[in-house]
Amino acid sequence: MDSEVEVSEKDHDHPPHLLNDRFYEHANQPRNIGGIPKAEGKATGLGVCGDSIEIYLSIRNQAIVNIGQVPHGCTYTVTCGSAVSQLVTGKSLEEALRVTPDAVAAELGGLPEDHMHCASLAVNTLGEAIDDYYRKIWGNREEAAQ
Ligand code: FES
Repeated sequence: MDSEVEVSEKDHDHPPHLLNDRFYEHANQPRNIGGIPKAEGKATGLGVCGDSIEIYLSIRNQAIVNIGQVPHGCTYTVTCGSAVSQLVTGKSLEEALRVTPDAVAAELGGLPEDHMHCASLAVNTLGEAIDDYYRKIWGNREEAAQ
């Protein structure tokens, strides 16, 4: 599954010694890599830099029981996708929607300011995947009512 992670070269300007163990842990073993067939919610977010993250959600009783994420980009994008997936696994949709880019950065032990947009990309894509779930639910209800 790790072969699905594509890492670009945008992280060369941040020497590794500036980063910490938590960051390395997520970089070396990104969590929840891979898509989920028949996911109830999914989205692909595209960052201003061209990096992207795919997020897939399995949802039961308004809670995220499983999450898959496929990052395409630099190490920061990979670690932010990993961190957001870890933060929301087992959480209610309401709780998941309260996760912020700062919470993702904290999970990683901090992020350089110029890579906070990677955390925003992960958080925004999560929100779009949850939105996709709600749109499907409400779409089905409207169809059923017709
Ligand atoms: Fe742009 Fe990571 S460098 S999302």
